[in-house]
Amino acid sequence: MKRIPVLAGNWKMNKTPAEASELARLFAKSLGTVTEAEVVLCPPYVALLAVQAAIQGTRIGLGAQNLHWEKSGAFTGEISAGMLAGWCSHVIIGHSERRQHFGETDETVNKKVIAAQKHGLIPIVCVGETLAENEAGRTAEVVRRQTLEGLKGVDAGFASQIVVAYEPVWAIGTGRASSAENAENVHRNVVRAALKDLFGSETAEAIRILYGGSVTAANAAEFFSQADIDGALVGGASLKSDEFIAIARAAAS
Ligand code: PGA
Repeated sequence: MKRIPVLAGNWKMNKTPAEASELARLFAKSLGTVTEAEVVLCPPYVALLAVQAAIQGTRIGLGAQNLHWEKSGAFTGEISAGMLAGWCSHVIIGHSERRQHFGETDETVNKKVIAAQKHGLIPIVCVGETLAENEAGRTAEVVRRQTLEGLKGVDAGFASQIVVAYEPVWAIGTGRASSAENAENVHRNVVRAALKDLFGSETAEAIRILYGGSVTAANAAEFFSQADIDGALVGGASLKSDEFIAIARAAAS
């Protein structure tokens, strides 16, 4: 089945609104008309507005890096799905940095995914094992559990729009990417297999599964040549315009 690749740039806690605007303008200029891949920029909350303005009229999508599952109320510092809906297209949920530093669990990930669904935001749901889990041979067990628990209760109709990102924690920001073969194996035999159990074959085949973890212009094409790698979630390299543009071109070709 042919799936249109997704290339999402996770800017993490980087870029002021002015800096974000400048970078987004570069991407708008060189990637704004790309149709063979869906490009999504995920700046910090405070830069969403500036990036939205910079990419207006292009095909580039706008993603937040997190949300809170409650509608509104006494949750100082949090942002709800309803606040992002209507102008953001995507939202990253359950990134390993949030699991690691901010206590996110499969349960909170699931609440956030359901909140995103309610507001029509496309979640980019992150899964991935730690180095210790990897070395203990627990990758399949951990990634399967994160996928099943994170996505349970999602409507079959909405499920095909969801994006899942397999990001082995040991590969994030380390310069030590997974091999394309290892990633393909996890995508096909763990993530897509779990998606089949949740939503059935047809829907599972439509869901885009991205690889993330030290993706660069040099290694991107090899990942994208795998049958079950449908794009990438890119951190560090998404802050460098030449790198990210080259990765996007590789995704689109
Ligand atoms: P990286 O980050 O590309 O810098 O490894 C990926 C991510 O955290 O999404």
